[in-house]
Amino acid sequence: MPFYHSLGQIPPKRHTQFEKPAGQSGGPGGLYYEQLFGTIGFDGMSSLLYHVHRPTMVRDVLGSVDMTPKLAVEKNIMARKLIGFDAEPADRDDYLGSRVPLFVNKDLLVGVAAPRQSLTDYFYKNADADELLFVHRGTGTLRTLLGQIRFGYGDYLVIPRGMIYQITFDTPETRLLYVESHSPIYTPKRYRNHFGQMLEHAPFCERDIRRPQNLETHDETGDFLMKIKKQGALHSLVYATHPFDVIGWDGYNYPYAFNIQDFEPITGRVHQPPPVHQTFQTDTFVVCSFCPRLYDYHPKAIPAPYNHSNIDSDEVIYYVDGDFMSRNDIAPGHITLHSGGIPHGPAPGAMERSIGKRETVEYAVMVDTFRPLMLTEQALRIDDGKYYQSWLDD
Ligand SMILES: [Fe+2]
Repeated sequence: MPFYHSLGQIPPKRHTQFEKPAGQSGGPGGLYYEQLFGTIGFDGMSSLLYHVHRPTMVRDVLGSVDMTPKLAVEKNIMARKLIGFDAEPADRDDYLGSRVPLFVNKDLLVGVAAPRQSLTDYFYKNADADELLFVHRGTGTLRTLLGQIRFGYGDYLVIPRGMIYQITFDTPETRLLYVESHSPIYTPKRYRNHFGQMLEHAPFCERDIRRPQNLETHDETGDFLMKIKKQGALHSLVYATHPFDVIGWDGYNYPYAFNIQDFEPITGRVHQPPPVHQTFQTDTFVVCSFCPRLYDYHPKAIPAPYNHSNIDSDEVIYYVDGDFMSRNDIAPGHITLHSGGIPHGPAPGAMERSIGKRETVEYAVMVDTFRPLMLTEQALRIDDGKYYQSWLDD
């Protein structure tokens, strides 16, 4: 996140001696272990962490499991509608096993998950990708080595690559949409000034960003199972110290939450294009939030979107809640794919139906990718198979 945050204790000067007190391993007189934790080499955002133990103590490297999604359609031109709540996980009782990959290309992976169990018996980090979790149902706590974030309905959780975390769910009724992005996930550049501050015309600002709190510092040695996703494989390692042993940190690289209900929609006298809904950017895709908003107020306005040709991108829309004005026969958890190469637009009747309406109460999340998406075997299993013909006259 492009603004500074600090938790716990840190020395007044970076890269200097930071002595442990009595009662801590190696204290008094011993030194904390400093770690620079950044992305994009030494050019991206980074944080400086102070560990009780050396963060490099790997006791064992166990096996690896290939996580490469099984592809069913590599060259897709068909519009699709998936019934997201029907997705079949490999193991709903395991956080990673509950993830069902649906769409993939070399830049990202989009999937859904309905985990029943919290992730507490091992630690996880994704070394391949930034993760974006969207919480559709359920509440819980994201626990990371940089602190905790409580989450609930409508939260986006942005977890930078390499962030060690566990996650607890308060109920077994959790529903997540997740994206693994091989390029960093940022807020849109056009909404930030030269210094990184959110500008006045941005649909959200720093006050809407929830940063980690309640830093956990575990001064423990032993065997700690760590699962690391790298190059599409899940590697199991044994760390010799508790991964959450940070006494303090500061910097710009940390997980955060932003709630879709805090997105302030930008509206106009006539229909505004999808970029006004943009919430996140990467080099290879954007994420947009469709939120309750007043409709266009020109006396002759057509609130439904016009047909458009996203010739260069594939568009995934995950329907969250409310009444989806541009579509027929859509329910929460449904996911549409409008593939590049053919135009798409409102369902038959939706344009006429929208005229004279004052507002919409829809919530939806859109992922627009610049490279075409491939469909996994799990995606085809929940594809309704007929959506591509839904624009035909009856
Ligand atoms: Fe579209």
